[in-house]
Amino acid sequence: MLATLWLISLSFPTLRAQPLISCPYKNLCQWPLLSGNDIVLKCDLPRALWYFSSILGEDLFLINSMHNIKNLPSGSLQLTNPQPSQSGLYRCQDKHSILMVEYEIDFQDVSTLHITHKALDQQTLQNETLRLGGEVLVFTQWEPWQNCNRCGVPGERKRLGYCYIEEPQEKPMPCGLYLRDEKPPHTRLRPEIQVEACLVPCGPAKELEQSYFIFDIYQLGKLTNNAWLDCPLSSVYR
Ligand SMILES: *[C@@H]1O[C@H](CO)[C@@H](O)[C@H](O)[C@H]1NC(C)=O
Repeated sequence: MLATLWLISLSFPTLRAQPLISCPYKNLCQWPLLSGNDIVLKCDLPRALWYFSSILGEDLFLINSMHNIKNLPSGSLQLTNPQPSQSGLYRCQDKHSILMVEYEIDFQDVSTLHITHKALDQQTLQNETLRLGGEVLVFTQWEPWQNCNRCGVPGERKRLGYCYIEEPQEKPMPCGLYLRDEKPPHTRLRPEIQVEACLVPCGPAKELEQSYFIFDIYQLGKLTNNAWLDCPLSSVYR
């Protein structure tokens, strides 16, 4: 049985593939993501212009030189080590100010990540109601389980869960986008990650698909409750 909690992170030093976030042409998409983990926002227009307005709703400004944001030749926008304070609206336009695509991103704070392992009977975060004017429900919206990190032998896999808030009869929203500048000090308002054991056979297709990954396994300190995936070149998204 598993006696310790392992955190799995994958890295790929030379052909680093960053998760690409995309949204249909002329649409607005809302995404929760984890701070500290690189991503690329897609916009299919070379020399596209990107504008940003923080979650506090200040005026949009043109992104041309921010230390951790890069306009890629394809038109997409690369964010390296994004911070919770960089949550907000990212708008891609052409040179005539015609909207291509917009993203509302909630970078949930990776340093508050709640980490549990199924095999250790650790509890994921429970649904809670919060009083904010009216009553709202805070819950975790889980992503699908990611691939097992090994085949043929016991391995582990993980899934990410983002903090969402739901008003009665309304569509749930990522917590940061719902709360905007309100910051109620509440411990339920955080993202989580769940790990479980897995055992998958090695198929030729699977091997090919994963052959270029390098798996690094980091042991989580037993004496600390705070942990985050912050190793060079690692990503929680795969
Ligand atoms: C928590 O709330 C979500 C959203 O309403 C719901 O889908 C889920 O079933 C709830 N979970 C529990 C354990 O009640």
